[in-house]
Amino acid sequence: MKIVTVLGARPQFVKAATISRAISVYNSTTKEKIIEKIIHTGQHYDANMSDVFFDEMNIPKPDYNLGIGGSSHGAMTGQQLELIEKILLREKPDFVLVYGDTNSTLAGALAGVKIHIPIVHVEAGLRSFNMKMPEEINRILTDNMSSILFCPTATAMDNLENDGFLKRECSIYNVGDVMYDAAAYYSDKSTRPSEISENTKKYGLLTIHRAENTNNLTKLKNIASAINEISIEQEIICPIHPRTKKIIEANEIKINATFLNPVSYFEMLWLIKNTNIILTDSGGLQKEAYFFNKPCITLRDQTEWVELVDLKVNILVGSSKKEIIKAYDFFSKTKINCEKNIYGDGNASTKI
Ligand code: UD1
Repeated sequence: MKIVTVLGARPQFVKAATISRAISVYNSTTKEKIIEKIIHTGQHYDANMSDVFFDEMNIPKPDYNLGIGGSSHGAMTGQQLELIEKILLREKPDFVLVYGDTNSTLAGALAGVKIHIPIVHVEAGLRSFNMKMPEEINRILTDNMSSILFCPTATAMDNLENDGFLKRECSIYNVGDVMYDAAAYYSDKSTRPSEISENTKKYGLLTIHRAENTNNLTKLKNIASAINEISIEQEIICPIHPRTKKIIEANEIKINATFLNPVSYFEMLWLIKNTNIILTDSGGLQKEAYFFNKPCITLRDQTEWVELVDLKVNILVGSSKKEIIKAYDFFSKTKINCEKNIYGDGNASTKI
């Protein structure tokens, strides 16, 4: 069996690491062989946003590097589509495997489905119900093009059922979350970023990169103001995304935080394990907070990970300074419980 995997953005490297490892175990323990060819679109291209993940997690080197990133949504998706189609016509795989909700996911799925190659979507069924998010458009379209849909949660299964997927010719499975597989497998390898002192004890961990925050200066300034207030009480450490860095520098927005260049996955695991609170607009980090029993303040109006909000381990605050501080005060006084096993048993990739 031959699979072509299409990836391109940071969280996809972490997810792909778990599946590539499962494929390698499968190949060494069965007579059948799965051949995986990897296309890296180049959506994330800085070494610390890409290469470091391949090196750390021994992800097989991509067979194809398209070098298409850093452009507008349409240009990026269109250019990727054209090149991926050419490769698929040459490779003739049995399946195209895509992850999550990025522009690379959409380009990979669209290229494959148009030439009748079945699409496998890992992290299917998630919805924020906010069509202004590029990721929401990408995930709805990708689900609709897929033949095999692997959901990470019961909520994702429900979303697909509500959208009528049970009546269609496709297979849907709730296998758990491959990000949980990764966190469980690599937890022991967590590494302190060299810029952080051994004596760093109490800090909050901040990440911001969503267009809905970075492209709206009022929102960004509200978040900055809340962070500056929290930083009176404890240090805030922020591995900064290149998009956010450009915007806060260009607009001279003052955020009282210790900024790091983008960190590797193992370094991120260390930062998560040792923090006492997480503030983020990332999708993945909300779950990683839960995996390591940390409260999470989500700087968005909606989340795909609604289970975390129901469990009161994650509070959605949008970009309201008042709500951010209120959530911070709540978590300062309240112990959270992350014992419930809502993201599977750490074997999602083997099941897939
Ligand atoms: C993308 C995904 C998002 C995912 C995130 C993870 C889409 C629509 N969004 O958002 O779902 O959560 O990745 O990080 O696909 N840039 C660099 N160096 C890099 C990569 C990007 O400087 O290595 C710059 C780009 O030139 C661009 C900006 O950062 O100006 C944003 O990159 P982009 O690919 O649009 O997506 P993300 O915001 O990272």
